[in-house]
Amino acid sequence: MLTSDSLGQLQERVLEWYAAHQRDLPWRKTQDPYAILVSEVMLQQTQVERVIPKYLEFLQRFPTLEALAEATPAEVIRAWSPLGYNQRAVRVQAIARQVTEDSHGRLPHEAASLARLKGLGPYTAAAVACFAFGVQGPVVDTNVRRVLGRILLGQTRPAPKAVAQAAREALPQGRASEWNQALMDIGATLCAINDPRCLLCPARPWCRWAAGEGETDHQGKAQTLAETRAPYWVQPPFKGSSRYYRGRIVDYLRSASAGGVPQAEVGAVIKEGFTQEDIPWLEALLSGLERDGLVRREGERVRLP
Ligand code: ADE
Repeated sequence: MLTSDSLGQLQERVLEWYAAHQRDLPWRKTQDPYAILVSEVMLQQTQVERVIPKYLEFLQRFPTLEALAEATPAEVIRAWSPLGYNQRAVRVQAIARQVTEDSHGRLPHEAASLARLKGLGPYTAAAVACFAFGVQGPVVDTNVRRVLGRILLGQTRPAPKAVAQAAREALPQGRASEWNQALMDIGATLCAINDPRCLLCPARPWCRWAAGEGETDHQGKAQTLAETRAPYWVQPPFKGSSRYYRGRIVDYLRSASAGGVPQAEVGAVIKEGFTQEDIPWLEALLSGLERDGLVRREGERVRLP
């Protein structure tokens, strides 16, 4: 770890850089915890550019936690299109319902209490606590892990425990929200996995990785594609996988009327050459989707819930 003087300088330089260069993102202009929650859930598996228009649209459609809680799951799943990972839509609504029923519509402030809500994981809890309520704690997503790993540990893929400790120690008290989002922006705009733009980086004078300590993968050693992708790369559902067909089923039901469609029609639409023999396979997919709250079956008909 850096000396406290060096750490102070690093913090100051990074915060100055953030003040001048931060990305203009709509969820940074609000203090509404609900809006920040929506942004964080959307950002978990989707890139910032794709999230921005959907975030704005979703908040117009469901402007408050109460509005989201009162909607039908089908409405929420429809509004989530085309972000994918539809279970996130079900989860964010389940959170809204728990909070309106149990806590008078107010999200708790502390990360530990947020994380007790069903469907809200530790990363999202830390992010909402910090960005919405000013809790002074680290928020470590994949970008932050890489940025802090490189600066403080000289490693692109540091062990989770090591980075968690470094993130706690490096946090400038009172400035956690800016600091965490500055690290996110450095990760997204400068500290790419390959070809990072170290010359533009405010952390360069303190960065162990840029100084060539620890790993040497930035010094011209070509990484294999597999190395560069894991674990940051979210795999799109490859054609033929269960996730692929689950997505196709939900997409088809979105386009159908609220009353749904016959199960046999779903099979024929989502799978070319669907036959009687595929029925058990389709049944298993539909049961899984129903368990996850993404579809409802009524006799032979299937619809959004
Ligand atoms: N990814 C997750 N949260 C983010 C935020 N607040 N700003 C930018 N990217 C993010």
